[in-house]
Parts: sequence; structure tokens; C-alpha cells
Amino acid sequence: MKLPFAESHKIKMVEAIKKSTKADRLQWIKKANYNLFNLRSDQVFVDLLTDSGTGAMSDKQWSAMMLGDESYAGASSYYKMKKAIKDITGFDYFLPTHQGRAAENVLFSVMVKEGNLVPGNSHFDTTKGHIEFRKARAIDCTIDEAFDTANLHLFKGNLDLSKLENVLSNNPKDKVPMVIVTITCNSSGGQPVSMQNLKEVKALAEKFDIPVIFDSARFAENAYFIKTREDGYQDKTIKEIVKEMFTYADGMTMSSKKDAIVNMGGFIAMNSEALYKEASVYNIMFEGYITYGGMSGRDMNALAQGLDEATEFDFLESRIEQVAHLGQQLVDAGVPVLVPFGGHAIFIDATKFLAHIPKEEYIAQTLAVELYIEGGVRGVEIGTIMADRDPVTRENRYPDLELIRLAIPRRTYTNNHMDYVAASLINVFEKRMDIKRGYKILTEAPILRHFTVELEKLK
Ligand code: F0G
Repeated sequence: MKLPFAESHKIKMVEAIKKSTKADRLQWIKKANYNLFNLRSDQVFVDLLTDSGTGAMSDKQWSAMMLGDESYAGASSYYKMKKAIKDITGFDYFLPTHQGRAAENVLFSVMVKEGNLVPGNSHFDTTKGHIEFRKARAIDCTIDEAFDTANLHLFKGNLDLSKLENVLSNNPKDKVPMVIVTITCNSSGGQPVSMQNLKEVKALAEKFDIPVIFDSARFAENAYFIKTREDGYQDKTIKEIVKEMFTYADGMTMSSKKDAIVNMGGFIAMNSEALYKEASVYNIMFEGYITYGGMSGRDMNALAQGLDEATEFDFLESRIEQVAHLGQQLVDAGVPVLVPFGGHAIFIDATKFLAHIPKEEYIAQTLAVELYIEGGVRGVEIGTIMADRDPVTRENRYPDLELIRLAIPRRTYTNNHMDYVAASLINVFEKRMDIKRGYKILTEAPILRHFTVELEKLK
């Protein structure tokens, strides 16, 4: 018999989670103004809001925490992190930050100016937020295949080189401070960028003398997909693939809450000493001194260890197989799911799921609320609410895709939890025609509104 798949870890510590009734959840979600961010965590049974900072650290990471050096300047933990970053990514210079968006804030404070254009592949919302906050514009150059949720293209995170060339050749060099490549591309469904595409993007950007920055939150998952899908990489280790990937970038921002498997942390890394020096000034102002940047020594130690673990094939296989285990059950039941499955999450095509709900009533949010009520499962809307209003016209921006994302925390849940989530969503799918109306917005913030938006259920 072929041996079935099993995870490459066992469990040493557990945390209780609470079940609730549908009646409880109806009341709680109403009180939360139909915003899942407003729920208390004990009102959620399986929390798939995010895979960010929600992973389970290993025994080696916890023991590294005990050796944290909390010195303000020059801590040994800083040097451990520096060595891990150099070993894994190859970059010589780095600055710790408290999380990924802080890395964006520091780097963009140096590089992005009013009126600039920043091309990339479906920028993440905080990335776009930090660009637009500086009155610059994010230009999406993702390949068209990414916007068809049923298209089986293996690298739907790829940039369309002609779209990118258009931006680079039609604008003066000083208007385009960088190209941002997000690996894997969260906003297009946790989809990878191929090595070939990384190479071509770098060559094109180099022709125009524009630096390439990788938004690297899930860089190790990207490497796993390169190894398992791209010709010529099957026999390379994840660490070798990662090293090659970063040779096609001039710098990176990192949310270490994902592929460094820590609860809090981030960094910027780069080749240029001049850029490092300029960014250091902002790091000190916004984050902390350059050798801790908003992180405690123990967290830097755990991060260094986490980078090593996340770039091991066995870990990545366990993780990505678990995501696929959920995805496959949904596909088998006919639920419209974005394929190929993402590295960190399963994305549900809400427009196909609730085809009868108009986009003005926030289709994906409607579905996310229904899933919560059904099973106490918390996902997140990646649709019109998250897309914010156009900064100039203030009209709602309707993105090409209305999705809900079920993000799987690393090493946290078992496949029984995945089966439970699948059953909850399949139940909603079977009674989808009973969902008659969506929501209207009562109050919203001018930017990144999804975190605090308050909604009213339409009757
Ligand atoms: N870039 C990407 C691709 C991300 O997915 C995130 C965060 C960030 C940058 C910002 O990092 O949260 O550490 O400040 N994504 C989380 C998510 C929030 O749920 O996908 P951060």
C-alpha cells in the first residue's frame, strides 16, 4: 500500500479552543457590526483570519527565545538574525522592524515620493496603503490568467512583462522608484512567481536602471512551488532555490510573521550600503535603534531559527499539503475555489458562490459572515471592502476578484480541523440560495477600511 501523507512534526503543547452554538454566533456577529475583525478570539472555533503571527513555534525556537540578548545596542540576537538573513537570502545589510508593514514604512520613506508609480504584482493592501499614503500609485502588472480563478496556470503570481515594460518605458526613470514583486502573491491567491519570471523582471528593470524589491512574506512557499512545478529545480534544495530567487532582487521587505514562523517581527534587507544608511535614519525614528528595530532579542533569536526551519522541504510539504487537503474537499463538493490552491490559504470565489448577490452589497463579506455563523470559522474578505475607495474619486473600487480567504496558520491546526472547515463551507454552499441580501457600510476609515468597517445587514 502507498503510505499516506503525514505531517513532519508532532505536538508538544496544546491550547484549548471553544465551540459555540449558531444562536451565540448570530448574536456575536451582529454585535460586531458584521465585521469579523471585531469578534473576540474565543467567539471563533477555527480561526483562519490570517496565517500571520498565528503559527506554532518549534521547540528549537522556544529554546532560542531563552537565549535572547536584550541589549539595546549590538545584541548577540541581532548578529544571529543578521547571519541567518545573509545565509538564507544572501543580502549583506538588514534592518529589523516590528512587522512587515513597518519594513514598508521605513523603506518607502526613503524611496517613494509623491507622484511616483510603483509597478508590481497585485500589491498587498498594506503595501498599497503605504504607497498611496505617500500620494504615489501602485500599478498592477499581474498576468491576466491570475484573474480567472479556474485557470490552472502554475505561476499565477507572475508579472506580465509587457505591462511592466509599458510602465517603465512610458515614464521617466525618476518617477518609478522600484518594482515590487510579491512572493508568493497573497492578493492574487497565494500564487507563486516562477524563477523564470523573477529573472526576466530583474533583467527588464535593470535595463531601465530601476531596483527590484521583493515583498517576501511567503518566500519559502514560493520556493516550494518552484521546486515542485518548474523545470530544472526538482533536484535543488529549498535553500538553494531561495538563494537564487534573491539574486534577482536588490532588496526585500519581510513580514517574519509568515515564513519566519514568529508571532511578531519583520525586516528589510538589501545589497546597497547607501540605501541601508538612508533607511537606518527612518528605522531609528519609527522602529527603534538599528540593532533591534522594534523587536526584542528573544524574538530575533526565534526568527533566525524560524528562517532555517521554514526553508526545509519537509516543513513546507506538510504545510502546503494541509492547505491542499482543505482545498480538495471543497473542489470535490463543487465549491468554486481558486485553483491551483495557494501556498498559505484557500481562496473561495465569492462571485461564483453567491452569483445572485450584487457587488454593491459586498459579496465576499456576505459569504465570510455566513461561514462564521455556520461553523464558527473565521475567514477574511478579499474583495471590495478591502480594495478601499479610489484615493482621488472616492468611489468604491470593485476588484477583479471577490474572494474569501481561509488562511491556514503554520503547524497550528490538524486535518480534522480542515475537515470541519470544509463541512461548514459545503453546508453554506448547499443553502446558498437562501442568502438573499448582503450589507451596506455604516462607517468606514479613509484607508485600510476593512479592519474597522461597520456594516448593516440589508433586508
Ligand atoms: N506583504 C504581504 C504579502 C503580506 O501578506 C503582509 C501581511 C504584509 C506584507 C504586511 O506584513 O502584517 O507583518 O505588517 N499579511 C497579513 C495577512 C496581514 O493576513 O495576509 P505585516
